[in-house]
Amino acid sequence: MLINLWYVAEWSDTVKDKPVKVKLLGQNFVLFRDQQGKVSCLSDVCLHRGGSLSSGRTIRDCVACPYHGWQFNGDGKVEFIPSEGRDFKIPDRARVDAYPTEERYGMIWVFLGDAPEDERIPIPEFPEYSDTANWRALHDKWDWKAEAARVVENGIDIAHASFVHPMFGEAETAQENHIKNVELHDFWGRSWNEQYPPELTGGFLNWRKLIRRDRQPTETIPTWYMAGMVVRIQINLNPRMSLIMFDANTPIDEHNTRTFAVQLRSFVKHPLFDAGSRKRLHKIFSEDQVILEQSSPNYLPETLANELSVKDDRFMSSFRRARRSLIEENGWLIDSAVVKAHDGRKSFAIPSPFRRERADLRWVMDPVPLVPPLTSAVKIVDQAELS
Ligand code: FES
Ligand SMILES: [Fe+2]
Repeated sequence: MLINLWYVAEWSDTVKDKPVKVKLLGQNFVLFRDQQGKVSCLSDVCLHRGGSLSSGRTIRDCVACPYHGWQFNGDGKVEFIPSEGRDFKIPDRARVDAYPTEERYGMIWVFLGDAPEDERIPIPEFPEYSDTANWRALHDKWDWKAEAARVVENGIDIAHASFVHPMFGEAETAQENHIKNVELHDFWGRSWNEQYPPELTGGFLNWRKLIRRDRQPTETIPTWYMAGMVVRIQINLNPRMSLIMFDANTPIDEHNTRTFAVQLRSFVKHPLFDAGSRKRLHKIFSEDQVILEQSSPNYLPETLANELSVKDDRFMSSFRRARRSLIEENGWLIDSAVVKAHDGRKSFAIPSPFRRERADLRWVMDPVPLVPPLTSAVKIVDQAELS
């Protein structure tokens, strides 16, 4: 799991007037709104005696700990300690880590790390989301017992569709599917693919058959974004009908991922068709789930050396390579083995931007341990990736 990335913590409409607890990167956080409606995200561990802030309540622009009532503002600073009275001078170091937040596409995004604003990989653009005249949106959630990076790789892998998703392909035509183009940018990548899926079926009097003939060439455009571990897949069924899946794959912990999924469709936009769309989306997720939850190892291997890659995997590998650069060069990987060794005995905090600015404050909680970056002398030469 990587720090210093934006992740989706919750749907916007879940966070109203009460604090909400979320688990991300193996740590607990509290989300709450101030009186202006601005959402804040703090470490959930009270620095007094470890109370869970999310079990407290919001008071004006603060969240109050349920244990002794200390009040924390949206910057994580303690504003009031009831037992000490209003005149008490609260020390500067009485604060928990607070994280930048943004609300986009109906989702609450939180930046979990200490990188300054100009060094952050931006939240992916999703312009179609607000184009409600042309697209109908559906929101959904899916939980996986698998690491987020594995879920991302599955999402951008076109080749598996012929075997795992009968709706999108069949084994006999696997060889005809091909990557037409790959475009790589800083921490996101897109590929264009042609596929020959079977005829669509279902709906009243089997009307979905009209959308796509058998083996009609279909353009599939997967995109990965490191920010939010997002997978976007656009499927152009024909020149007038498209689907877009925008899935933010949030690492809950090392073994669990929660997908915040938005699906857009450019056709049959009446809400009456939502139930059918949702059913098909669940079918796809459950087909992937069977494969992913049984794959080994549960985590993305450290290198590509212990898996064999072929030409068709080159787009998938671009994500793995970019992720590895953040691990090996930036040192952003949480050292889960060390965290686990302290399980139940010590809490850590994901370092926030203000912690980096004010290292002099002697922060109460220790930062989460990270795997140090590799020096070039010990970098793993990965033949499988170089080929
Ligand atoms: S533990 Fe939170 S106020 Fe005491
Ligand atoms: Fe899939």
